[in-house]
Order: sequence, then C-alpha cells, then structure tokens
Amino acid sequence: MNKERKLIIAGNWKMNKTVAEGLDLVHGLKLELASVKEVDIVVCPPFTALSEVSKAILDSNLRLGAQNMSENGLGAYTGEIAAGMLKEFSVRYVILGHSERRQYQKESDALIAKKAASVHAAALKPIVCVGETLAERESNQTEQVLDTQVRGSLCGLTREQMVETVVAYEPVWAIGTGKTATTQQAQDAHAFIRSLLAKMFDESIAKKVRIQYGGSVKPSNSRELMSQPDVDGALVGGAALEVRSFADIIKNSI
Ligand code: 13P
Repeated sequence: MNKERKLIIAGNWKMNKTVAEGLDLVHGLKLELASVKEVDIVVCPPFTALSEVSKAILDSNLRLGAQNMSENGLGAYTGEIAAGMLKEFSVRYVILGHSERRQYQKESDALIAKKAASVHAAALKPIVCVGETLAERESNQTEQVLDTQVRGSLCGLTREQMVETVVAYEPVWAIGTGKTATTQQAQDAHAFIRSLLAKMFDESIAKKVRIQYGGSVKPSNSRELMSQPDVDGALVGGAALEVRSFADIIKNSI
C-alpha cells in the first residue's frame, strides 16, 4: 500500500502478560515480521516487562513503547515512572491519555499536555489518544469532543515536537467491544483531527503527523482501515496479545 506517511502499528498490551508471556510474544513477532520494512512496529508492554522485552527486541525491527509516564522528573512521586527510567530500556514511544486512563485515573487534557511536554523533553515520542464515547457520538458531539481533546492535550507543543507526535483516534465505544468504526467514520474523524492540527500549527505540519486508528482492529479489517487516506496506522489492544493476529494485522496493512 502506497501511503503518504509511513504506517505505525502499535500493540498496547494494557495490563496483560507476565515477563515470560511477553517474551514468548515478541519472539514470535520477531520471526513473523523480520522482513517488514514498510511499517513502524511498536510493542507497548506493561512497565514490569519493559526491561526483558527491550533486550529481546534489540536486534529486530520492533520498537518499544510504554503505556504511560509521569509528567515529573525524578523525585518523591510514589508509584510513578519518569522519562529517564524509560530511556534506560530504549523506550521510543509513550502512550498518553488513553481513554482507560482518562476514565479510571481521571486524566485531564491539561495533565496529558504536561506529560506530552515531558515526553518530548526526554526526546521520546508521545502517542496521544483522543476519542468520543458512544453517548457523545449519538448526541452529535464527536467533533466538539475531538476539538477539546486535541487542542487541550497538544496545545503546548512546538512545531518540531508536533511532527514527532503520533495521535491515536480511539472511539471509546469501539475499544474492546468488537464494534469497529466504519472506514468512513474513521476517515472522517482522522480528517477532522488533521484539519484541527492545520489550524493549530499549519497545513505542512498537519500533513506530516501520523494519526492511528484504535478500537477493535483485527486482521480482517486492518487493510480497509489503513487504505483510508488519513489513517496512518493502528493502536491495537486485544488482537496485539497474540502473535498470529498482531502479525496478520501488520502484514494485511502493507
Ligand atoms: P482493542 O483493540 O482491544 O479494541 O483496544 C484498543 C485500544 O484501546 C488500544 O489502545
């Protein structure tokens, strides 16, 4: 598939996998995906598996991501993880503002903006998640919600930082439900997000930013989703937990 921007497909393992299970998964992925050059492939294990997974993928085309990071540097923040700690394991990407964290940890756009600034300050790349709930979509508030989240969580970035930021559009109603957005719904939301980036920065920046789709991505729908002009990759949950399904999502997208 010939895309304007290089595809980036990331597996968000969420709160799953022991170290041994995570190693099994990446060993399988390494074998399956060794020849793939067209896609930036990222695995995002829980913090507890970062060290071992990092060593296991050292000589491969898999890159490492974390699922969250503190907005603060080292210090008295019990239970938090700082950028410098992630860098020790060659982490390249950090997922921020996932809807599960917005919901359960009450993360706000302002907090996510601070975290995004800290991720960039450490020369890591944030994957900033946005997306509406079912109630918001059904009451025609999708664009309003995306406008607030995109502006609120990306507002402090410089132009250079924005280009190195990935945005993940994850409609909350499609996460873990088996209900995928239609290709048209995904394309419309992605085009809208890109138009917002053009207003906040400019057209040339907006054209460079990669926007992933997330929400029940599977081998059977990845090709159609990735073929949309503004869909530049996927953030995969459940289907990223098995070698076969994650590898097929990637292979079907090329
Ligand atoms: P599912 O692929 O399980 O729907 O999860 C999507 C997601 O939340 C990825 O961050």
